[in-house]
Amino acid sequence: MSRFQKVQWLIEALNLDQSTAGFLQCFELSDHELQSVVDDLSENQLSNFHLPFSVAPNFLVNGQFLAFPLVTEESSVVAALAKAAGFWAGRGGFHAEVIGTEKKGQLHFNWNGTPGNLTRLFPQLKEQLLGEVASLTENMAKRGGGITLIELKHLPEILPNYYQLDVAFETCDAMGANFINSCLEQFGRTLKSWARQNEAFHDEERHVEIIMAILSNYAPNSRVKVWVECPVSELETDRHQARIFADKFVQAVHIARRDVSRAVTHNKGIFNGIDALAIATGNDFRAIEAGAHAYASRKGVYSGLSYAELSGGQFCFSLEIPLAVGVVGGVTSIHPLAKVAMKILGEPSAKELMTYLAVAGLASNWSAVKALVTTGIQQGHMKMHLSNILSSFQLSGEQKQAARLYFQDREVSFSEVQKYLSEHA
Ligand code: MEV
Repeated sequence: MSRFQKVQWLIEALNLDQSTAGFLQCFELSDHELQSVVDDLSENQLSNFHLPFSVAPNFLVNGQFLAFPLVTEESSVVAALAKAAGFWAGRGGFHAEVIGTEKKGQLHFNWNGTPGNLTRLFPQLKEQLLGEVASLTENMAKRGGGITLIELKHLPEILPNYYQLDVAFETCDAMGANFINSCLEQFGRTLKSWARQNEAFHDEERHVEIIMAILSNYAPNSRVKVWVECPVSELETDRHQARIFADKFVQAVHIARRDVSRAVTHNKGIFNGIDALAIATGNDFRAIEAGAHAYASRKGVYSGLSYAELSGGQFCFSLEIPLAVGVVGGVTSIHPLAKVAMKILGEPSAKELMTYLAVAGLASNWSAVKALVTTGIQQGHMKMHLSNILSSFQLSGEQKQAARLYFQDREVSFSEVQKYLSEHA
């Protein structure tokens, strides 16, 4: 079916208003070439779903000023990031260090032979595996990447005859999902034929059953650390207030490290920033989230990802997080706005983008926790919420401004706004 036919089918099947077709169409791009790029990203498209593409300026990261492009539907997120950026730019900015960039993938298989036999012959198998993926790894090797480790794991505690090839990769500036999956699927074919042809095995040992081959989104060795620090006295204009604020802030972060209910919300605040930058740059935010949430549980209990401490009058707030992202290939190189986002960031390398994502996470976490331990979250939220409510009425710029002034120190709710407008409009 063409797009037109799909929309008509939907209107008939769900008994929707015929005007739905025109409404869906008005969200399409007038530039057909650009629209076809967006169309090719997915299937069965009916229209485009717009989200704001924003910018948070003044991020000082390792001494360099940057503006972060952000895509989010949550009204307070961009303001929170911009505020944090400005605050920390005057206090040395954000510091970042990439700890590693290793990605992982696994070939999962069953083999019912004597476990020791496979282990004994593994060096021979490994050579064959690497030889048969050479055409796939050649280009990556030229850029300094490739397969860095292959381990054979026998895991009868999971399934009786279950094994894994646990493989580590360096994928340079690519996220590497396609590269990793192609290598792993080739490993599956090589392993099967190697076992079938190997004279060292008895007939019953020659049968390998491949279960699946897939990268792992758990990349704890593709990790970055970011932090901000300053004397406690610089956190507030009043020294006494600064100390109270710092104490409460550290306590709030500590609570998130120890209490699961708080940790989840605390980390959600981190992902407000990370996801917005990941979406703007065309990165897979589900993969990032899945990996980082697993990392948050690595000690057996889900915990807050950031850390705050006071030491000798110095305040330090940090975040260490796994981030497996790319800047070449994938949506980053295809989506017209992701390309603009990459330009805004100065065409970063994958390592630089890792640090920017973590900085966005720490910045949004900073603003959220700062608000929580001082004014409360509703003050800022409600200001943005008011803008959303006002957008649902047909108002001039002046009327909106007057409403903002009126609600500056009043409770915001839809009914209160409605009441105000009926009395003042
Ligand atoms: C809201 O999107 C995020 C917060 O709930 C995060 C937090 O509680 O730390 C404010």
